[in-house]
Amino acid sequence: MALEEKGALYGRLASGEERYAALKDTLGTMSLIPVLNSERTRITAATREMLVDITGTSQEVVGKVDTFLKTHLPDPQLAPQRLHEAMRYAALNGGKRIRPLLAFGAGALTEAPEEALTVVSASLELIHAYSLVHDDLPCMDNDVLRRGQPTCHVQFGEAMALLAGDTLQSLAFQWLGEFPLLEDASRQLRMVQQLALASGSRGMGGGQAIDLESTGTTLSLPELEAMHLKKTGALIRTAILLGADCSQAPLPPEEQRSLVRFANALGLAFQVMDDILDTESDTATLGKTAGKDAAGQKATYVSIMGLAQAKALAADLLSTSCDALTAFGSRGRRLQELAHLVHNRRH
Ligand code: IPE
Ligand code: IPE
Ligand code: MG
Ligand code: MG
Ligand code: MG
Repeated sequence: MALEEKGALYGRLASGEERYAALKDTLGTMSLIPVLNSERTRITAATREMLVDITGTSQEVVGKVDTFLKTHLPDPQLAPQRLHEAMRYAALNGGKRIRPLLAFGAGALTEAPEEALTVVSASLELIHAYSLVHDDLPCMDNDVLRRGQPTCHVQFGEAMALLAGDTLQSLAFQWLGEFPLLEDASRQLRMVQQLALASGSRGMGGGQAIDLESTGTTLSLPELEAMHLKKTGALIRTAILLGADCSQAPLPPEEQRSLVRFANALGLAFQVMDDILDTESDTATLGKTAGKDAAGQKATYVSIMGLAQAKALAADLLSTSCDALTAFGSRGRRLQELAHLVHNRRH
């Protein structure tokens, strides 16, 4: 069917396809490692050393989580095929897998087994993938490009994308409940509860509601911080805490408090960096439309504080998060590397 005919039928969907077609020639390859090594990466020598250090381990973690997702997501041959294709498309289209990396990093603190970390990471990625599918919908941010490819609704239509988001979310809780992760079932039940809290109305979903309601308005700094802590911070924080929880022997309370401090600071830093990148980076590097926040009149750290202050805040949050890790000595090295990665990422 010609695009114009589709346009008559689907309106916003066809315009999404057209917008994607206009963008796609400018795109490069989207993957963590090439971007870290690329000429575009403006990072200090010390940080470069750190990032290079972790790329081997990162690739291993990403490989494990991707394999789990490929194996356990419903087969695209199974009915309803189109829905299963859309779910796989949304979850397997090459994200950075930062949440799994953080879960594994925190798991290193408690010597958590990689099988449990893989299940938890895959569940986190399903929630994250669902949040992106819905975030991109025309009724939300109306984006046509994600991870260098057409967004789920551009590829599959709005209704199917909506369902793919819903069913990815359900599957996350199915996995977290059905794989035996801990001998103490009540601790595993608590993990399910933590993920639900982080993704629900008092976490990511609630933060997204505040984001929509604050579009076109100015938020105070405490309001902005509260929104970012919910919409992005909650899931990042939970990735870190669940990673450490994957061990039969959880952290002692003092160390748990340090990990919570790290997780809160890094969760906020992640969205501050996302706001900065939306302003500073280009569409080809980001794999999503640059400048979208300003165009959509979003309340962000850049719109409210300005770019220089937002960068200063990101640097402060990096040092706050690294300070919290001193409690762990050399055991916290991997999380420290990941905090630098979050701060210096280019997409
Ligand atoms: C983007 O998250 C959306 C936010 C929560 C800011 P990521 O930057 O982790 O996206 P992917 O998974 O790498 O595409
Ligand atoms: C989205 O924030 C946070 C989510 C919960 C998905 P953004 O709307 O800034 O994320 P991007 O920039 O589209 O990835
Ligand atoms: Mg959004
Ligand atoms: Mg968005
Ligand atoms: Mg953004």
